[in-house]
Amino acid sequence: MNVLVTGGAGYIGSHTIVELLNYGYEVVMVDNFSNSKREVIDHIKEITNREFTFYEGDVSDEAFMEKVFTENKIECVIHFAGYKAVGESVEKPILYYRNNLNSTLVLCDVMKNHNCKKLVFSSSATVYGKPKELPIKEDFPLSTTNPYGTTKLMIEKILEDIYHSDHEWDIVILRYFNPIGAHESGLIGEDPNGIPNNLMPYIVKVATHELECLNVFGNDYDTPDGTGVRDYIHVVDLAKGHIKACEKLFQHKGLGIYNLGTGIGYSVLDLIHAFEKVNQVTVNYKIVERRPGDIDACYADPTSALEELGWKAEKNIDDMCRDAYHFAIEQNNMLR
Ligand code: WQD
Repeated sequence: MNVLVTGGAGYIGSHTIVELLNYGYEVVMVDNFSNSKREVIDHIKEITNREFTFYEGDVSDEAFMEKVFTENKIECVIHFAGYKAVGESVEKPILYYRNNLNSTLVLCDVMKNHNCKKLVFSSSATVYGKPKELPIKEDFPLSTTNPYGTTKLMIEKILEDIYHSDHEWDIVILRYFNPIGAHESGLIGEDPNGIPNNLMPYIVKVATHELECLNVFGNDYDTPDGTGVRDYIHVVDLAKGHIKACEKLFQHKGLGIYNLGTGIGYSVLDLIHAFEKVNQVTVNYKIVERRPGDIDACYADPTSALEELGWKAEKNIDDMCRDAYHFAIEQNNMLR
């Protein structure tokens, strides 16, 4: 069965393609390399010893997407492609709305034209805004505080409207918490361009001496040690959740929304200390002012994903820290 993966050379997309190939799916990858690297394609093939079809292009390009669907019998789509930097979205809202919304609208239109109506969408826990209580359930109120998060919320609404207009669609929306870590091979992982916005890639660059010191954004939050608490989930566990979501699509259950998290919250200092211990390294840090827009704490109630998808995260925080560091070491070795 052919699965189309948009943004398949990206961090979560590449790990998901590895799992799809391992499970015996045929994969068609689309990516424009706006936030990923071409070498990921060869690394996926090296990890899985499997071939797959690849197209370089933009999901917003209707003629390009028509070509992909005309040349391949696509039976379901996992849609990752989109810009995802919170800070950049605040500076460039038009870019984010045009790219993230247009690409999704073109994709769904072309899918409909080719009678392909099974879609997994990459959403984010950011749609919950500042949660009223914890852990977070899927029926909690939704609100966003930045254009990136708003594109995710708007796309969820678009998909709900598509489903209600035509119940032949099967759609699974996955709300990721904080994906970190890397494949155990060290060949693929989180490899952001420039100075990382997110915590784990920044910790890794301090541990490998590419950056001097981690700024911990505030220690006066309403959390056990005052630093921000998040639900970190291993990217391989997240990838496996997409396999379960694809299986769900073929049970014709219509529209489903699921949290993909561990249900466990760790603070910034927890993550630093776990990283230092498991990798036997030192991470220099200093406490600075809060980052605007950050919330105190966020972690999932992942019950629905277990009950309805048969999915549960299996890897722990040490696995995440070990694999993230291993990927960076492998990357640095490859550059030598
Ligand atoms: C985690 C914690 C920071 C960097 C974002 C997006 C979300 C999703 C995941 C896409 C917070 C603290 C961070 C640093 C720090 N992305 N921190 N120093 O903000 O929870 O979520 O990434 O879907 O949509 O909003 O993740 O890793 O940026 O921050 O102290 O240099 O680490 O304050 O408490 P976040 P993060």
